[in-house]
Amino acid sequence: MKFFLDTANLDELKKGASWGILDGVTTNPSLIAKEGRPIEEQVRLICDIVDGDISAEVVATEAPAMIREGHNLSRIHKNIVVKCPLTRDGIMACSALSKEGIRVNVTLCFSATQALIAAKAGAYFISPFVGRLDDISSSGMELIQHIVRIYKNYGYSTQVLAASLRSPMHVMDAALAGADIGTMPFKVMDQLFNHPLTDKGLEQFLKDWGKVFQEAPVAG
Ligand code: G3P
Repeated sequence: MKFFLDTANLDELKKGASWGILDGVTTNPSLIAKEGRPIEEQVRLICDIVDGDISAEVVATEAPAMIREGHNLSRIHKNIVVKCPLTRDGIMACSALSKEGIRVNVTLCFSATQALIAAKAGAYFISPFVGRLDDISSSGMELIQHIVRIYKNYGYSTQVLAASLRSPMHVMDAALAGADIGTMPFKVMDQLFNHPLTDKGLEQFLKDWGKVFQEAPVAG
């Protein structure tokens, strides 16, 4: 499973990249706006930090303008994946951009049939929003399971990017369901490391070591 960070914050991305387990980044207009820089500038800075797929979203709502924005975003860096919302215009733009070889992440997906449409339009990624479905008492994870099964049934190459993951349990369930990628806030990726038995075990190892030796095995 690939791990993406769902943030446009450069400090979070630098920290995530330093762990050596970061495969890419997803952004959206809300996340870009939070950082206060124009999208081209912010995305370029992100590409300097993370060597992986970087999703950057169009803000136009009509297909011709979305396609124009998609062209501009894709020119910023070879790793850019253009993000389009799952509307009729967004799907038209996805289809046109995909035919040109530009990779598209279709976002704001809340049903399996929407995901089927995106795959038919040649989407590179489909982004089903798990947490936002859970928020309205629907099962976000069941949606991931359905999409994975449907794509497998028909051999679609569109990758399932589980989005709106809000907890380590979401990440684990998305992995069990076979999502290709999980995108998560920095806080969730950080939480994935934690286990009290790891902390307790390490404390004991170091205490035992310290009883006999005063220094690390190889001095710096
Ligand atoms: O990638 C989609 C994500 O940004 C949405 O997350 O937590 O705002 O539903 P959330």
